Amino acid sequence: MEDFNRRIVLTGFMGVGKSTVARFLAYLLDCKRIDLDSVIEESEKRKIADIIEANGLPHFRQLETENLRRILLESDAKIIALGGGAWTIEENRKLIKSYNLTSVWLESTFQHCWQNISRSKRVRPLAQNKNQAWKLFEERQKIYCLADWHFIVRPELTSYEIAKQIAEEVFFYKIRR
Ligand code: S3P
Repeated sequence: MEDFNRRIVLTGFMGVGKSTVARFLAYLLDCKRIDLDSVIEESEKRKIADIIEANGLPHFRQLETENLRRILLESDAKIIALGGGAWTIEENRKLIKSYNLTSVWLESTFQHCWQNISRSKRVRPLAQNKNQAWKLFEERQKIYCLADWHFIVRPELTSYEIAKQIAEEVFFYKIRR
């Protein structure tokens, strides 16, 4: 049985591909998706990196929780891609649970995430060098682990293939296209 009532949040470390997988999933399931970082950037009219640089990380985390709360309350998007740190905040996890969303951890190796981070043009203030990123990666594993589903992202899989597998396994979706 296809389970279209299910709503999910995608979590995982920076560079694992949450936003791209969310886009393909929404395409496959023909549903709405929303990207928490993009929502924050649109409402603040500045880039996440600029917010963190100008106002500090605690302020960004506060915006993140406020915007997550708003999305959960107002949006009918079935797929929500979180920023890599959002799931690490207990209040956010409780919120997500209270709205009955299924959390999916895109789990990958540090090497894979770092490769994507270092190739990307996006400025990531919390991963400015490999050592800083590695420490964060290590610290967070046990928190990502709390997600309902763990999806192992093998580096040879494309984002489309990952989305297709999540659609099949989490939504029991039979791919027709
Ligand atoms: C962060 C991840 C970023 C962004 C911010 C903080 C984190 O999102 O929310 O720079 O704490 O891991 P991505 O995971 O999309 O890079």
